[in-house]
Order: sequence, then C-alpha cells, then structure tokens
Amino acid sequence: YVIGIDLGTSAVKLLLVNKIGDVVQEISKDYPLIQEKTGYSEQDPRSWVDQTVAGLSDLLKDFDGNKEDIEGISFSGQMHGLVLLDENNAVLRNAILWNDTRTTEQCKQIYNTLGEDRLLEITKNPALEGFTLPKILWVKEHEPALYAKAKTFLLPKDYLRYRLTGEMHMEYSDAAGTLLLNVREKQWSGEICDLLGIDSALCPPLVESHAEVGKITAEIAAATGLADSTPVFAGGADNACGAIGSGILDDGKTLCSIGTSGVVLSYESGNDKDFQGKVHYFNHGAPNAYYTMGVTLAAGYSLSWFKDVFAQDESFEDLVAEVGSVPVGANGLLFTPYVVGERTPHADAAIRASFIGMDSSHQRKDFVRAVMEGITFSLNESIDIFRKNGKIIDTIVSTGGGTKNEDWLQMQADIFDAKIVKLSSEQGPGMGAAMLAAYGCGWFDSLKDCADEFLKVDKEFLPNRDRVNAYKKLFAIYQDVYGQTKNLNK
Ligand code: XUL
Repeated sequence: YVIGIDLGTSAVKLLLVNKIGDVVQEISKDYPLIQEKTGYSEQDPRSWVDQTVAGLSDLLKDFDGNKEDIEGISFSGQMHGLVLLDENNAVLRNAILWNDTRTTEQCKQIYNTLGEDRLLEITKNPALEGFTLPKILWVKEHEPALYAKAKTFLLPKDYLRYRLTGEMHMEYSDAAGTLLLNVREKQWSGEICDLLGIDSALCPPLVESHAEVGKITAEIAAATGLADSTPVFAGGADNACGAIGSGILDDGKTLCSIGTSGVVLSYESGNDKDFQGKVHYFNHGAPNAYYTMGVTLAAGYSLSWFKDVFAQDESFEDLVAEVGSVPVGANGLLFTPYVVGERTPHADAAIRASFIGMDSSHQRKDFVRAVMEGITFSLNESIDIFRKNGKIIDTIVSTGGGTKNEDWLQMQADIFDAKIVKLSSEQGPGMGAAMLAAYGCGWFDSLKDCADEFLKVDKEFLPNRDRVNAYKKLFAIYQDVYGQTKNLNK
C-alpha cells in the first residue's frame, strides 16, 4: 500500500491505495480559513498537522492489513502559501494562502525592481498576488520585527512533511510557484533574492517530487498507528499532482479540470517555450518535465452563482438536465463567466460577467446552457494560447464537476475541438500523490508505468465537425466581449 495526502484549502484528504491503484480507504478532515479583512486568507499551519495526524489514525483504525505493508507516503498541496519558521523551526505567524490578494503593491515592487522581461526570463511567470514572493515582501514591510526572526520559508505541504519527518525540503513543482525559482535551471534565483533584499538562506534545499526525503518519526508513528520509519516522498503542487493523477505524462496530453475554478493544463517536455507569461509555466512532478496552465477563476462557481440566484431549491442535476435539448449557441445567448474577475488570458480582478443576446422567448435552460458554454469558452482561451504557440492538443482528460453531465463533456469536445476522455475513477491530486509514493518506493520504473496500471478510461467524447465550426464563430464573438466590457466597473 501507499498513502496519498492532499493538503487542500478547505480540507486534507487521505487515500490508502493498493498495488493496482484501487482506493481501499479514504478520509477527509477539514480546517478553517481565517479571513480577518477583505482580501486576506490565512490558515494556522498547526491545524494542517493536527488534522492530518487525526486523519492518518482514522485511516489506520479500520485497516486490517499489516502496517509494515504501507511502503510509502507522499503529498499534494495547495500552492504558493507562505509558512515562516524561526530558528527553532516554530511557526512565526499564520500561513498566508494562495487566494490572499493583499500584495498588489509588492507585485508592482517586483516589476519595478526586476523588470517584467527579466522576471519572465528567470521564473517564466508573471508577478501575481497569489504567489509566494510578494507575500514574503509583504511580511518584510508590514511585520519587520517578526520577519527579522524568520530563518526558513516553506510551502504548506512541505511544512506538513517536515512535521511528520523532522526533515525540511521543498520540491521543484511547488518551488516554481514562489517566483524565487529559476524554473529552467531548477535553482533558487540568487539574483531575485539579492535585488529584493531577501536572504537566500531562507530558501530550503530542493529535491525531486518522487525523492525519499525522510521517514515517519517515532512520535508520529505512535500517534497515528503508522510503522515507525515508514518512508516519506517529497510530493508535488496540487496542480502537478492533479496532472499525474490524470495521466498527463506525455507531450500533447492535456487536462481540463472544472471545480470552483477551472484549470487547463498541458504537459511540456522542455523548458524552452515562451508563452510571454500569458499562461503559467511550472515544473511538473514528473522528473525533468514542465506544464503550462491557464486558470478560469469562476468556472463551476459561475454555475453555482446562477443556481443560487435563480434556482435555489433545485439540485445541480435538475438544473443542467435539459441543456442537451438546447441547440449549440443557446439560441443566441452568450455568457462571459467573469463573476469574480478573470485570471487567464486577462489577469483582471475587476472585469465582471455578462449575458448578451437576451430574447423574450428565452427560457431558463437557455441561460444554463449559455453559462456552461461561457465557462468552456473561457477555458478554450487557454487552449487557444497553447495552440497559437505551437502545441498540438488533440486529447484532453476532463475531471472535476464538469464531468458529471455528459452534455457538458460533449460541449467540451466541440468547443475545444479535441477528444475528451473521462476516467473511471477520479481522485485527482490525492491519487497523484499516491502515485509519487508508488514510483518513489520502486513499484514502477516510471510514473507513466504507474499511470498505465492505476488509471482506466471510462468514456470518450469525439468532436462533431458541424458543432466545432458553429462554436468557432461564437468563440470569436466571445473573445470580443472582454474588450467591450472591461471599463464597465472602472
Ligand atoms: C495555482 C493556484 C491554485 C492553488 C489551489 O496557481 O493558485 O490552483 O494551487 O490549491
């Protein structure tokens, strides 16, 4: 067996997985978000540890096998969150999370100090409020006495792993989201540290995602029922682990994940492409690989917003049940899904959504179809950027809430103009973490071999030429709406 631990924003999910990839036990434990002011989003790192220890002991309580048969543990984690430790490795303050947006000034400071071109050259990514470097600069400026005590910074799952093993590391896929990593050379950027006045000794040692980086301590073994010295493997960022857990391990393989937000992510074997920072470009959890990624802030969230306002008493299943009877283009109704702003391709927190083309004959099902099409168009903008930069995208694995309705899967095939694959069991990032442990402990020669054994296809959806062509015309109109509406709220 192996254990995959997915340290999310609302909960930690633990999967106990056997040698053929079946999830034999699954536990989830939640913890609170701390939001003291608008735009602030924090968590107490100790709550991650307490809930993971509680989760592990629940997981093992009903396990009738031998605890020595658990051969490895690995992690997936929410990206970008800042954990600061003092000289005794005690937590100095709450972690500042990926969805905290207090750092607009610090992002400007990064651009002014380094210049956008140099930042992109080193990190391959733009300075966004969510990333870690602006958070470090914020603490340095606003909490100087506390910052003076900082000896190490870690990301969320790296802190959790430290507490389970006593060893401190960071791995490339998560380090890529800090804006302190030279993504191409896989080294901390001394240049960025120096120019921004950050002591590079704060940065922990870097390792590969499947590397064995420690063993479960005797104390954690006693508290959880794990065997003392169970091997622990580094793990990866949640998006990298989501990719691994969906088999995105070859050039051309692409993932579409529709949850509250939506992600389109594509495998990159090299580090030499240039997307001008329009999409994220991060190190993968697979050795020496990368991935590019675009984000739609309100994907599933646009649909749940619509349901909350117009169909509160209905289930999601009932709300979307009739969309198959509405033709392509929702009878002339078009929606842009910017209800909380947008990230890709427009890094614009102020833009808001629109319905265009309303007719007195429209029924609610037309609106629902338009919302689903608008979300899918937004994700297609990321795919469009990938393709315009020379990527061939013909097959997309679809995961998350977007797979619950077959009309939506077909819509994805027609809008993305690609074959859509739905997997038979969907565990996402937690499964990716378990696969890193399975590969790390030597069950397989590669992550790809592990994916071949663990992941099975349930169903495929092929694009239909007529619908693809109809959607191409609508997508061009969709793309025009942003420019026409971006000044509405300014
Ligand atoms: C990625 C990002 C989110 C977090 C969520 O850039 O901000 O996907 O990783 O956990």
